[in-house]
Amino acid sequence: MSFTVAIDGPAASGKGTIARAVAAHFGFAHLDTGLLYRAVGKKVMIRGDSPEIAVQMARELTPDDLMADDLRTAEVAQAASKVASIPQVRSTLVDFQKTFAKQPNGAVLDGRDIGTVICPDADVKLFVVASAEVRAERRFKELSANDTNITLEYVLEDIKTRDARDAGRDVAPMTAADDAVVLNTSKLTIRQAIAAAVAVITDKRVVD
Ligand code: DC
Repeated sequence: MSFTVAIDGPAASGKGTIARAVAAHFGFAHLDTGLLYRAVGKKVMIRGDSPEIAVQMARELTPDDLMADDLRTAEVAQAASKVASIPQVRSTLVDFQKTFAKQPNGAVLDGRDIGTVICPDADVKLFVVASAEVRAERRFKELSANDTNITLEYVLEDIKTRDARDAGRDVAPMTAADDAVVLNTSKLTIRQAIAAAVAVITDKRVVD
């Protein structure tokens, strides 16, 4: 029976880690939808920064593009956030995400607009938040492992710029769905955050 979990929230809130863990726990398929925008953003960095090129890159996207190992940089994240504000880029990527969400054995999708636009009828919606400072610390730890020049201040600024762009755009802005459960991970360990998410989903599955 299909069962869809939508997990949204800002950068480094913990939604990706929670989504992966939830998928493993319940045996659901997982789609990190940020990778779609990151892959388009990376192509635009190489091929040219114009809305037309971004739309063409979105149309030509293949599953292999999501496997590239250099999609996690701060530069690609900014490029992703920019192409994500182009309405035709978003509409081009909608069908793939909606189809993924209907997997017969259950699916978890994480992103910014999953509970509001991609899966408005999701069985469970979580909106994962944490303070910008906590999120910057987390992202700094990840990024500084590969980039010794990166600073905490840069990462904090980067996160705040992305938050403002992702929440302020006209189409599918990042926002909690009215029926989403808000999970604040600022003071939670990873284990606690995952346990909280699993508890919300388990409750919902038992009730249904
Ligand atoms: O989740 P992430 O940090 O990898 O996402 C990168 C960017 O992609 C993010 O800043 C905004 C965009 N994005 C989006 O607009 N909608 C989604 N469902 C997922 C990501």
